[in-house]
Amino acid sequence: MSTTILPENKLHYPVLLKEVLSIISPQSGGTFIDCTFGQGGYSRKLLEYPKVKVIAFDRDQKCKSIAIKFKNKFKDRFEFYNKKFSEIDIVKNDDKIKGIIFDLGFSYNQIKDQSKGLSFNYKGRLNMKMGQNNFSAQDIIKYLSVNELEKIFKYFGEEKYSKLISKKVVNERKFKDLLTEDLVDIINSSKKNFTKKNKSTKVFQALRILVNNEISELILGLTKSCNLISKNGIIAAVTFHSIEDRICKFFFNEISSQRKISRYLPINSIDQISFNLIKKKPIVPTIKEVEENPSSRSAKLRAVKRVSKKKLDTKFIFEKFKYLLEVEKIASKL
Ligand SMILES: C[S@@+](CC[C@H](N)C(=O)[O-])C[C@H]1O[C@@H](n2cnc3c(N)ncnc32)[C@H](O)[C@@H]1O
Repeated sequence: MSTTILPENKLHYPVLLKEVLSIISPQSGGTFIDCTFGQGGYSRKLLEYPKVKVIAFDRDQKCKSIAIKFKNKFKDRFEFYNKKFSEIDIVKNDDKIKGIIFDLGFSYNQIKDQSKGLSFNYKGRLNMKMGQNNFSAQDIIKYLSVNELEKIFKYFGEEKYSKLISKKVVNERKFKDLLTEDLVDIINSSKKNFTKKNKSTKVFQALRILVNNEISELILGLTKSCNLISKNGIIAAVTFHSIEDRICKFFFNEISSQRKISRYLPINSIDQISFNLIKKKPIVPTIKEVEENPSSRSAKLRAVKRVSKKKLDTKFIFEKFKYLLEVEKIASKL
């Protein structure tokens, strides 16, 4: 998750911005897709280059007002879709896309928006909807079974105490609708040992991932981007937790030619590999960036460059992360 905060001036701090720009090189112009417009930090920087056009996506309706200001200023050089990035294929292929950027997670505005109920530091109704959702965290906590909750906390939060927490949730909800503070109390009472992170981090992460279908969103966003990006174009992703980083790392490694032997790609597709890894290791924030914005500390940037126009078969990623996609399906009855 990204909280990307600069508390002094209450602005969203675009994480790894310099590093992303140096990879996608907007200096000579071209069309770029900003999949996670947020407060427009990345888009604004890209549009400083006069020959750049930005097509931006964000699922949060509250981004619209910022997008309107961008539209007034940059006219035809800016387009905004209040949509999820899994719908990125509405962009026409003939737009010659030079770069596609994902800055995953949440913006400062969203975390600070109490109505979104994203933070365990606030009190009140559980929610966690970023926009265009079918159910809330409240629905998950209220209606899913103890086994289902356990799976969600375990797979999406990597929470060691998922069983105990789920049992307590199901017991406590008999008496009242559980609010954010009630869930925090349950988690605190289940985890006696000291932890470096806030004890609620993992369970809250799990709920956020499920409410926003983050697993299928990311997989669809990445796979659709592959066939949209032009030759020599770059796909770059900034991740904030280990599950999304694992997905990006695996996908980029598999589609890139540095990975010669893959049990997921059919033998005859080895010579069809059409991407190169920009760097083997992820790019992480400098000490200075972490000092200025501590919530950037878990950020990792990975990127690939398209080196041939051959169409890619991306079924392998759905296979690899089937176990996570199955957990996501638990909520389909809500
Ligand atoms: C970390 S913020 C991006 C900040 C942005 N780079 C900036 O500099 O202002 C992440 C944004 O992505 C949006 N988002 C997350 N998942 C999304 C999805 N699946 N589709 C569209 N937008 C999404 C969130 O609503 C949020 O505004």
